[in-house]
Amino acid sequence: MRGDRSVQPSQSTRRQGLGSLIATCAIPLLISAALSTTSVRAQEVTFTRDVAPILFENCVECHRPGSFAPMSLLTYENARRYAPRMKTKVQTRQMPPWHLDRTVGIQVYDNDVSLTDEEISTIVRWADAGAPKGDDRDMPPAPRLTEGGAWQLEEQMGRPPDVIVSSAAYDVLANGQDQWWGPTQRFEGLDEERWIKGYEFKPAYPNGLRVVHHGHANLRFADQTLGIAHYGVGKRYETFPDGTGMLLPAGEAEVNWNLHYFPVGERVDGDVVDVGLWFYPEGEEPEIETRGEVLMRVDRMNGMPRGGDILIPPYGQQVLQGVHVLRRPTLISSFRPHMHMRGKEMSMEAIYPDGRREMLGKVSDYRHIWQLSYQFEEDAKPLLPAGTMLLFTSVFDNSEENPLNPDPNQWVVFGRRGVDEMSHMWVGVTNLEQEEYDRMMAERQERERRIAARDQDDDQ
Ligand code: HEC
Repeated sequence: MRGDRSVQPSQSTRRQGLGSLIATCAIPLLISAALSTTSVRAQEVTFTRDVAPILFENCVECHRPGSFAPMSLLTYENARRYAPRMKTKVQTRQMPPWHLDRTVGIQVYDNDVSLTDEEISTIVRWADAGAPKGDDRDMPPAPRLTEGGAWQLEEQMGRPPDVIVSSAAYDVLANGQDQWWGPTQRFEGLDEERWIKGYEFKPAYPNGLRVVHHGHANLRFADQTLGIAHYGVGKRYETFPDGTGMLLPAGEAEVNWNLHYFPVGERVDGDVVDVGLWFYPEGEEPEIETRGEVLMRVDRMNGMPRGGDILIPPYGQQVLQGVHVLRRPTLISSFRPHMHMRGKEMSMEAIYPDGRREMLGKVSDYRHIWQLSYQFEEDAKPLLPAGTMLLFTSVFDNSEENPLNPDPNQWVVFGRRGVDEMSHMWVGVTNLEQEEYDRMMAERQERERRIAARDQDDDQ
């Protein structure tokens, strides 16, 4: 502005162009112009130097040939075509898929895949600059990707699964609505009980990955049912921390599969899902028994028949709440919201026995295609006393404001199809004995005291 006022170019100077304009100006303007040119050059963002490392680290595990993601982002030629869309998807934090509300609740998660503000700004500036390629010599080496059909946990566990359970084959139609497959099969069983350290639910590669939306495998023993594996797009495996395991009893059982398929416009014949289990070494007994992911309903509350409480008017909204009381002290390791196409938000709060209320986690940009599990970092896992209530709140939006709404003119009721609604949360639950809870609480308080003391030392 100051430059404008001091220069006041006449018609003729303007026609003479920028060079002569600067030549007629005061020296301070010259210097600042020179400075801003160099800083613009230093900030120029290129694919090979700045963007490729971000994509290799955060995107290509999914965005590669033959994957369930729509396109590969491994090469410049491909990535460049998607630059504008990448900009929108990272700016709105829809990609990488991580739809947590960043303004409330616990913010530290083991599996947080979100980009930093700086990474987002790099992609945005690159797209705005017209997606320049840059110098080939800056290109990072191609990332080492696990083969698509491999067990993702194999590397971490150091071996293939100890036991694999496979579903009976299912033919998925090319077109149509959701399909369910719930065969019951025999599980021969183990000679002795074993403790599960981790499980993975592996759809067939590559086609199964595209058609399996979510699924569960339950083992039904004479006196109990054990959910050994739960899957949703974006959540494939679960491992328990050292010292925690799920007890698999000895002997024969039934496997009940509950598989939800979604047609993708192409027939997929003979689809088979594999569930792999990894055990603790024989004879090693973890101190704490976990139940893994437990389903906590938000619909069917207040004694109503299942889903009797979901009724969303055309162009309308509905809020549902459900409360589950924890009868025993409990450590919560994760949460995974489940709703369908009208689902918009879902949260989990704790109401402590003394009435204090705390937001634990909230997803504010729910997207039905993703069934993400938000896994708290070890020290951040909510440790809740007996008598705590978990309060779940689901928000449905049936208006045209909801970009995923297939038809705002419809009344929406409870149902299993994607166009109907339901709502529950899968919560990673470990029930504790009172002594375990007291010990863990004391350890946490001790750790907090040490951190506070160290901070105080640093301040001095
Ligand atoms: C966990 C797997 C996964 C990761 C990681 C991931 N994506 Fe995606 N991406 C998908 C899937 C699946 C879709 C299609 C469904 C959707 O849009 O949610 C998609 C859609 C997109 C789209 C929209 C494509 C279109 O046709 O409009 C863009 C752009 C995109 N991703 C960019 C990225 C970028 C950039 C990253 C990394 C910063 C990334 N994605 C990370 C799986 C992933």
